[in-house]
Amino acid sequence: MKLFARIFALCALAAGLGGSTATLAAADTSADHSLKGDAVCTRCHDESEVRPILSIYQTKHGVRGDSRTPGCQTCHGASDNHLKDKKVPPDVTFVGDNKSEARTQESVCLTCHKSDKRTRWAGGPHQVNDVTCTNCHNVHAAVDKVRARKTQTEVCFACHKEQRADTLKVSTHPIDAGKVVCSDCHNPHGSGGPKLVKKNTVTETCYTCHAEKRGPFLWEHQPVTEDCTNCHTPHGSNISPLLKSRAPFLCQECHDGAHASPDPVGPSRAAGKQGTAGFGAADYAGRACQNCHVMVHGSNSPAGAFLQR
Ligand code: HEC
Ligand code: HEC
Ligand code: HEC
Ligand code: HEC
Ligand code: HEC
Ligand code: HEC
Ligand code: HEC
Ligand code: HEC
Ligand code: HEC
Ligand code: HEC
Repeated sequence: MKLFARIFALCALAAGLGGSTATLAAADTSADHSLKGDAVCTRCHDESEVRPILSIYQTKHGVRGDSRTPGCQTCHGASDNHLKDKKVPPDVTFVGDNKSEARTQESVCLTCHKSDKRTRWAGGPHQVNDVTCTNCHNVHAAVDKVRARKTQTEVCFACHKEQRADTLKVSTHPIDAGKVVCSDCHNPHGSGGPKLVKKNTVTETCYTCHAEKRGPFLWEHQPVTEDCTNCHTPHGSNISPLLKSRAPFLCQECHDGAHASPDPVGPSRAAGKQGTAGFGAADYAGRACQNCHVMVHGSNSPAGAFLQR
């Protein structure tokens, strides 16, 4: 009951980082939320701890003189029963056998972190699958692995094995080197686009780095403006560069029937005749389509209607 009253009080103060610890303390009289108040806990949880506890003071959650900084009891609750009997766990715990439910955990964090980036957390794929803040974040550790570019993928790969396998293929984004990381394309906290992509569409997300593919082009190629994943796969492929299948098959998924243009190489071209060969005919399929249609992403040449220049 006490916990609910507390969370209710915290929620009432929610929205952004506005709630000062002074007001939090007023809402929950039995707890001291200032860092000074931490003494009730740190008299036992001290330097002798093998796990990272006091290193929280080296993080943004340990900034003295910032009134927004949470104390032990802000996150773990007043924990009167734990203070009386250390075998009884605190009101809120985030790891181990006694850990609180995902919703209880996240409500503590969201008291202060309901900013823009997390407005779509509720109802998002992580939240509905009971993945919670602490599945990715480590607040006590001096370095939070998921926010460090070099180590972020380790955290994600613990659950996403398929994407790990993809990044071992021939053609990938330079993820190993930490040059591109998952959160360059995804907002793990929730998104308005599909599959947690950062922007509202996949293509907008790709444009953030591949701006030269955005155009506008005099001659657009419809599947490109529509969705880059018509032809590419983002995480990895054995067909370079990050292609879903090899040309001509890639192209033939959409272009079948007759290659109705003048035969570009055969004798019919000289005669100016319309070609009758299908897209599968030797003249065409024998080579990769993009040998001739070099501008698959769009052309700015006045004579590039067929994406050949
Ligand atoms: C009298 C000593 C003592 C005090 C005071 C104390 N603890 Fe503990 N705490 C322990 C012991 C002992 C354990 C259980 C063994 C362990 O996990 O090391 C423990 C366990 C915990 C755990 C892990 C619980 C679990 O089940 O995984 C948390 C979290 C915790 N304490 C937080 C706090 C907070 C927050 C405060 C202050 C409100 C506090 N403790 C005050 C001794 C204390
Ligand atoms: C910002 C919220 C927050 C604050 C402030 C906080 N904790 Fe924690 N605590 C957590 C989370 C989340 C975990 C789970 C492990 C992690 O994220 O590092 C945790 C884990 C623990 C554990 C168990 C560690 C384990 O591996 O079993 C103890 C003990 C603990 N905290 C004590 C404290 C003490 C003492 C303080 C004050 C000095 C404190 N916490 C301040 C959120 C917080
Ligand atoms: C009482 C308010 C409060 C609570 C509760 C709280 N935080 Fe924070 N958190 C802060 C403040 C203040 C900062 C620093 C923000 C800044 O400097 O812009 C911060 C920063 C962070 C950062 C970024 C750290 C950095 O180095 O930039 C992460 C990640 C974070 N919090 C996660 C959590 C998680 C996970 C929880 C729940 C276990 C939590 N917070 C609970 C107030 C809080
Ligand atoms: C699936 C993994 C994952 C989960 C779950 C997750 N985060 Fe994050 N979080 C990240 C990553 C990755 C970053 C760094 C990239 C970024 O800023 O978008 C980050 C950054 C942050 C930051 C610092 C930057 C900022 O947005 O202000 C805060 C604060 C934060 N997370 C809070 C939370 C809270 C609160 C929750 C739970 C409601 C949560 N996170 C759940 C992965 C996660
Ligand atoms: C270059 C941008 C980019 C990067 C980097 C990236 N992703 Fe993705 N991811 C996407 C796009 C686009 C989709 C949706 C289209 C698709 O599934 O092919 C997606 C889909 C996903 C899916 C859903 C798959 C499904 O089939 O439902 C998961 C899970 C995922 N990504 C995890 C990750 C992880 C983990 C990382 C870091 C190792 C990562 N992604 C890095 C762009 C990216
Ligand atoms: C504790 C496990 C866990 C961790 C860690 C984790 N995820 Fe997830 N993720 C899930 C689950 C469960 C789902 C929902 C089911 C699914 O699609 O597999 C999911 C779904 C996704 C999706 C697909 C969303 C959709 O709409 O289908 C993306 C993208 C994703 N996660 C990215 C990430 C990234 C990026 C990280 C690291 C920053 C990460 N995840 C860390 C468990 C996790
Ligand atoms: C964070 C920036 C970033 C984003 C976002 C991004 N890329 Fe990339 N992309 C790169 C970098 C860096 C390379 C490597 C370039 C190099 O090696 O010269 C690359 C390379 C590629 C390659 C060539 C791969 C190869 O093997 O040569 C393709 C194809 C590609 N990206 C497609 C996409 C698609 C599709 C999306 C959207 C789902 C996307 N990229 C989003 C940064 C990004
Ligand atoms: C119709 C299929 C198709 C679509 C859709 C497509 N691409 Fe490509 N892309 C290719 C092919 C084929 C290649 C290899 C070109 C070659 O072999 O010269 C390629 C190569 C690339 C390369 C590496 C070489 C270069 O030109 O820089 C990048 C980066 C790239 N594409 C990004 C994108 C982005 C971003 C999108 C979405 C805006 C996209 N592609 C949509 C077929 C496509
Ligand atoms: C996802 C479906 C799709 C894929 C895959 C695809 N295309 Fe297209 N392509 C289209 C559509 C749709 C148009 C526009 C047709 C129209 O305007 O009549 C188009 C137009 C073209 C045109 C210009 C023709 C014209 O009449 O404007 C050429 C050339 C072309 N594609 C070549 C290719 C090549 C080469 C590949 C493989 C690298 C490829 N396409 C892959 C759907 C696709
Ligand atoms: C040897 C060069 C060459 C190859 C290989 C080639 N094309 Fe073409 N294609 C052309 C030329 C040249 C035109 C435009 C002719 C004109 O000016 O009317 C054209 C026209 C097209 C058009 C638009 C007109 C139409 O016929 O519908 C499409 C679509 C197309 N090609 C797709 C493909 C695909 C798919 C492949 C691979 C299976 C392919 N091309 C292979 C040279 C080639």
